[in-house]
This record gives sequence, C-alpha cells and structure tokens, in this order.
Amino acid sequence: MSSLQLSALRGTEEAESDLVAQIDLARLPRHIAIIMDGNGRWARRRRLPRIAGHRAGAQAVRETVEICSQLGVTALTLYAFSTENWKRPQNEIDTLMGLLREYLRKELAEIHRNNIRLQILGHYEQIPPEVCQDLEDALQQTAQNTGMVLNVALNYSARTELVDAFNAILDRMRDNGNRTREITEQMIAEHLYTRGLPDPDLLIRTSGEMRVSNFLLWQIAYAEIWVTETCWPDFTRRHLLQAILDFQKRERRYGGLGHNGA
Ligand code: FPP
Repeated sequence: MSSLQLSALRGTEEAESDLVAQIDLARLPRHIAIIMDGNGRWARRRRLPRIAGHRAGAQAVRETVEICSQLGVTALTLYAFSTENWKRPQNEIDTLMGLLREYLRKELAEIHRNNIRLQILGHYEQIPPEVCQDLEDALQQTAQNTGMVLNVALNYSARTELVDAFNAILDRMRDNGNRTREITEQMIAEHLYTRGLPDPDLLIRTSGEMRVSNFLLWQIAYAEIWVTETCWPDFTRRHLLQAILDFQKRERRYGGLGHNGA
C-alpha cells in the first residue's frame, strides 16, 4: 500500500484507524469474496420496502470497494445476482438491475481513477440489453487497469461455472485430437471465470446465514469463512477491517498439522 493510501485510511475515524493499525499489511487476504445478504431483512426491520434495502446495500458496496482497493487487496468478488434470483418479483429484479446501472454511472470514473479492473462472473449476456451495454462499456474502459480486480458475480451459479469449465476442456480436448487423456485440477482452475486470480482466502457472509449458496464452490476450498449477523446495508469499513483481523489470527493448515504439531 502506498503511503498516500495508508494516510487516507489512517485519516478515517479514530476507532477505524485503530483497526487499520493492527492489520499486518504483509499478510492481507489476497482475494476477498462476499455474499452480500440481508438487504430484505434490513428493510423489513425498518418497515421499508425490500428495494430500500438494496439501495442501502449499494452504498455498502461503494465503501467496501474503496477500502479493499486502498488496502491493496488483489481481488474482491461480490455476489450481486444469482441465477436463482430471477425467481424474485419483477419489480425487485428491475430495481437490482437499475441499481447496478446507477452504481456504474456514479462510480465508474472513481473505479477507473483507482486503477480497478472490473470483471463480470456469470452469463451477463442474459440480463436486459441496456444493462449489458453499460457493463460492456465499463469492462472495456477498465480492461487495461492493473490494480485491484473487482469481480461482480451477476446471473452467477458456481455449478454452471464448473459445467462451463468442463465443456471448455472437452472442446479443447477435441481440438487437439483427443490426445489429452485426463483432466487435472490446474486445467479446471484455468477454465473458471476467475482464471488468473488467486482463490479467495477470505469468504465473508452477512446477516448470519451459514450457507455458501452456490458461490465459487471450487475456489473456496480452503477459504477462511467469516460470518457476521450484520445485514449487508449496515456493513461498513469497520466490519471489513474486523474480518481481516480475524482472518490474520487464524492458522491456515490446508489439511496439514499446525505449527505446534497439533
Ligand atoms: C441479498 O439480500 C442481496 C442481493 C440478492 C442483492 C445484492 C445487491 C446489492 C447489494 C445492490 C447492488 C449491487 C451492486 C454491485 C451495485 P436479500 O434480498 O436476499 O436479503 P434477505 O435475505 O434479507 O431477504
């Protein structure tokens, strides 16, 4: 992290800068994935329509993207819309698509200024054409950026991602006259939507649910999971910093033994 970014972070509220000071910047999670859940509950508790929860959720997206990029995280993946979310009422789907466009309209310049590269995970060509067009413009504008990769999972399903990967591998095998006889882990990783990125080290889920909801099933094999009761619209920079601090206290064993042999 540059000294400028660090001072931007430390210049934040006192309690927050206290958390920043405790973080070991040399051991940041390289990839953070977030299941942004609880927008509807947040709204219901306030007697507001569900779409008010999504609107407040979009603000939490802004803050999270900003702090992850300032910290120097390599990749941030946000679960914005699953293939199952098409079952929701049409006005809620329209609101979510509208919020995505609004987010791009308001934030694209800032995303670009922060050297962030936007990627979409999922079959986004199936979403309404006007949203697709905005997405393609944003993808093109940020394609050469070399800072944090911001993955937005949109019309995403981890099972579909795996099926797509296996089919791409099959195509490649046919193309080389079936000389390849076996599929390896590396081949699968190279055909996922996240190819080229490290797997998530940290998976965050808001609103207390203990599920992975068809999200990055291959990639989260060794991710540390951090669940908070906080609903996504109330998720702040402090929560993100707390999740990173907790992550740094964990001992990652990848199936082996701990440092003390236990
Ligand atoms: C889950 O809450 C949230 C979603 C399905 C949508 C997430 C979308 C946003 C945060 C806003 C826009 C996104 C971007 C990237 C700008 P839920 O509705 O399932 O909540 P509930 O479980 O309490 O009903």
